[in-house]
Amino acid sequence: MYLLELGGEDDAFAAREAASAAAGVQRIAPGLAVADAVVPERVRGLAYTHRASDLLGRTDASLESAVALLETAPIDREGSVAVRATDVHGSTDVSTARAERELGTILVNRGFSVDLEEPDHVLRATFSEGQLEGGGTLEADEETGDLFAHPDGDASPGERVSVCALGWLAAESVRDFGDRAPTDKPFFQPGSMDPLLARAVANVAGARPGAAILDPMCGTGGGLVEAGLVGADVIGTDAQEKMVRGARENLEHFLEPDDPSPTGVARGDWHVARGDATRLPLADDAVDGVVFDAPYGRQSKIETHRLEDLVSGALAEARRVAPRAVMIADRSWASEARAAGWDLEATFERRVHRSLTRYVLVLERRSTA
Ligand SMILES: C[S@@+](CC[C@H](N)C(=O)[O-])C[C@H]1O[C@@H](n2cnc3c(N)ncnc32)[C@H](O)[C@@H]1O
Repeated sequence: MYLLELGGEDDAFAAREAASAAAGVQRIAPGLAVADAVVPERVRGLAYTHRASDLLGRTDASLESAVALLETAPIDREGSVAVRATDVHGSTDVSTARAERELGTILVNRGFSVDLEEPDHVLRATFSEGQLEGGGTLEADEETGDLFAHPDGDASPGERVSVCALGWLAAESVRDFGDRAPTDKPFFQPGSMDPLLARAVANVAGARPGAAILDPMCGTGGGLVEAGLVGADVIGTDAQEKMVRGARENLEHFLEPDDPSPTGVARGDWHVARGDATRLPLADDAVDGVVFDAPYGRQSKIETHRLEDLVSGALAEARRVAPRAVMIADRSWASEARAAGWDLEATFERRVHRSLTRYVLVLERRSTA
């Protein structure tokens, strides 16, 4: 089993993204999840998971319990070690400095040497307390059939939990998103997608080496850059020639270098063309996944369509060319998605500020059979 340390403000969404690099993800406490298996190369490309560790054991969020756990845990490793402790969101009163010292002493007593600079093994000690929020995967209520959000773990929504989890660091995500701030890209326009969110959305849509990902309203290409950096081949269309030229500039800059991307994979191929998202120049099932950031109406230039018609048309076209889509918008669009033949696999909502709530919809093509 693996311990996942989640980042960002929405654990449900982070866990959903982690599922693109792991099997059997379950949230166990604020900022923490466990998984049955992970693909380390893909963990490197996650936005909202910082680390995956080989789980040594778990107990309640106190140093005494952590000490007892480590004293008795079977350890099949040799070499030097360092202990790194985290108090997730400052939610416990555990001193991480003391935890590192005491847990390090136990490892020394068990025959390990300590090397804080270049250890052979890093023991992650994570402490977290709080309520597990619901959100994410939708389940039907057995009696009423109403859909509700479940926290995906073995705890119930709202339940208070206290967890210490210990694990040997196995993989870390590459934290280079600051290098791709929208305003620092060769081509910038207001409304460009934040690279962290764009990466997570690309991962949930299935971006990986060998997969093809389409953004039919690609704007500056923010979503395509992130999908390409985790190795997917990417296709973008946009109704405005200015955006097509700008997206090309950004993709050339971030996806053309010959060296592997910082996540360790070859950068994907890319193509961008002017096109209407409601009439895509692509064959049925041409791609593996679609990402799209629906125009916010007031902000993006809408060419020839009412916003509702544009979104409905784009959803229908997306369903024709891909079995899965992830959509971001400033309103839910859930009924339009259903009407276009999609099932809602999960939905996430986050208030960004007073007048903006962001919705993320994970859509699976409904079979017509
Ligand atoms: C919210 S922006 C996308 C931002 C993009 N994700 C980024 O990171 O820059 C929406 C884009 O949809 C484009 N658009 C509007 N109507 C369209 C249509 N019918 N077909 C294709 N693109 C369209 C706009 O030109 C705009 O670039």
